[in-house]
Amino acid sequence: MDSSQGNAARSATAVVIVAAGSGQRLGHGIPKARVPPAGQPILAHALRGVIAANVAAQIYVCVPVGDSQLREICAAEEQLNDGHPVVIHTVHGGASRAESVANALRALEPSIERVLIHDAARPLVPVEVFTRVCQALDGGAPAVIPVISVVDTIKSVEPVLLGGAEAYRVTGTPARDTLRAVQTPQGFSLHALREAHSAVPAQDDITDDAMLMERAGVDVYVVPGSEYSHKITSASDLLLAEAWLEGPLAPRWVEG
Ligand code: CTP
Ligand code: MG
Repeated sequence: MDSSQGNAARSATAVVIVAAGSGQRLGHGIPKARVPPAGQPILAHALRGVIAANVAAQIYVCVPVGDSQLREICAAEEQLNDGHPVVIHTVHGGASRAESVANALRALEPSIERVLIHDAARPLVPVEVFTRVCQALDGGAPAVIPVISVVDTIKSVEPVLLGGAEAYRVTGTPARDTLRAVQTPQGFSLHALREAHSAVPAQDDITDDAMLMERAGVDVYVVPGSEYSHKITSASDLLLAEAWLEGPLAPRWVEG
């Protein structure tokens, strides 16, 4: 972003990185954001991606309460900063992802007008995806999500009994060309997002902020995501990230 309009947008934009999960499914016995594919913690990779994208002057990272190592990673990446000076704040994570996001939204400085909410567990998002999300916000979208097409056929199911035992029966097959898999960063007008938070009661079935906006009747727009934005959930996802970091994404790798 070189134009003055771009600089104004950068000053008014914050990226929230939620990194306060425990990583149960990955099963390393430490918070997932500290697990190091290709020698660097997942959070460091995620921060380098956000900083390289250069779309925000401030980053808010939700970390588990009492985790000094993730705070140190934030301080180190703030210093490295890839030539894009940025302030990295740390925020206490909550018991759920939604609570972590809510804590970060409460911590944002008053100058912030739009926010990108991003999973640390998606550490390899290309710069272009951040740019596309911000361009859609620039164009007036109140909510923007990066998506990719779905390659599997998806079924809906319902619980039933089969021979007295619990089973599931298919109830339908949504047309695949109407489906998209959702990634992060998800971009929002902060005003619209805060209104949705106050208008829609917290419910367990609301799994991301875009869904909250949908419930509030706000139009959510989509932009192309990337296969590299894949979320690290289990051991096979970590292997894939390591293979990308040693192969097609190797130039992204910076020792330090
Ligand atoms: N997250 C968070 N606060 C929580 C739970 C999750 O900030 N209380 C973050 C995670 O750190 C992650 C993102 O939300 O970046 C997506 O969550 P997920 O992939 O489920 O990560 P974990 O909750 O750590 O993993 P698991 O569910 O396997 O324990
Ligand atoms: Mg989780």
